[in-house]
Amino acid sequence: MKIAILPGDGIGPEIVAQALRVVEVLRGEGLAVTTESAPMGGAGHDAAGDPLPEATLALARSADAILMGAVGGPKYDTLPREKRPEQGLLRLRKDLALFANLRPAILYPELAAASTLKPEVVAGLDIVIVRELTGDIYFGQPRGRRKNAAGDDEGFDTMHYSVPEIERIARVGFEAARKRGKKLCSVDKANVLDTSILWRETVTRLAAQYPEVALSHMYVDNAAMQLVRNPKQFDVIVTGNMFGDILSDEASMLAGSIGMLPSASLDARQKGLYEPIHGSAPDLAGRDQANPLATILSLAMLFRYSLARADVGDRIEAAVRKVLAQGHRTGDIALPGEQVIGTRAMGDAVVAALRDS
Ligand code: IPM
Ligand code: MG
Repeated sequence: MKIAILPGDGIGPEIVAQALRVVEVLRGEGLAVTTESAPMGGAGHDAAGDPLPEATLALARSADAILMGAVGGPKYDTLPREKRPEQGLLRLRKDLALFANLRPAILYPELAAASTLKPEVVAGLDIVIVRELTGDIYFGQPRGRRKNAAGDDEGFDTMHYSVPEIERIARVGFEAARKRGKKLCSVDKANVLDTSILWRETVTRLAAQYPEVALSHMYVDNAAMQLVRNPKQFDVIVTGNMFGDILSDEASMLAGSIGMLPSASLDARQKGLYEPIHGSAPDLAGRDQANPLATILSLAMLFRYSLARADVGDRIEAAVRKVLAQGHRTGDIALPGEQVIGTRAMGDAVVAALRDS
């Protein structure tokens, strides 16, 4: 089994280093897994003038799974769009056809007070956002800049979804719901957008094939409100690329910190890219302050989904639960007065917990 490692920018290298220590422990126990790193994002731009260098893409293609840190940083903000770190990530998702983005938001009981929401609103939270990842306004053509009829400069983007694109992501949503609480909420903006009207029709039609799943529909503005009003009403949410981007950041606060949320981006054959949903946090970079748990939890998902080793994924997740129960806290999940540890010390704690398991 080969894992491609793309540390990326900002805190990316630091948090990925902690996940690699977890891999080391497993390898020491005899697990046959190799890793190979390559530059990506701003680091790709620095190394090869391209946020997704050809060699990095080749490595990602050849690997069984990919673990990524984060991309982006102020140094790259003024580059033309196609050279920006984010474009490397978007191209990687598109080129590998990683259309299904799973973003679980679980509140570990020890972190109930770390959320900005009241503990009783978030306690016991366990939801999954299934976000379509290779379509929508993110990739729609035409897009660009032009002069409008009045002679003013304008920017424009195109939102679109085809029926097959909607069906394949909806299936992922229905399947996920079937294995969990059997409730699927499809989020759209069908009161305004044609794309969403087709989305809703298509998801509704597919529901006939999943009689055991209760399907509901919600407009995205209402969903944003319901997520903070009563998040536990949700089981699985399925939505498009842009709505999913926004709602998953919102959902991360329900889990105490954006530093806790892993993600999997899967193709039709379960090959995947795994990354924390947070960004490169340039202000924290190099300071040993970032929370590595979202990356370590992403590694757990990698073993579960792409390497068919749910047992290893379970062990990694159990180790994370244990360090939280032991009271280890990085700054983002610490309450006032609680002792704060650094990125590496959090890695130490996970490694120790894993060794004991
Ligand atoms: C995410 C990020 C990316 C996205 C950016 C970095 C392009 O926000 O993974 O949610 O918008 O998809
Ligand atoms: Mg995002």
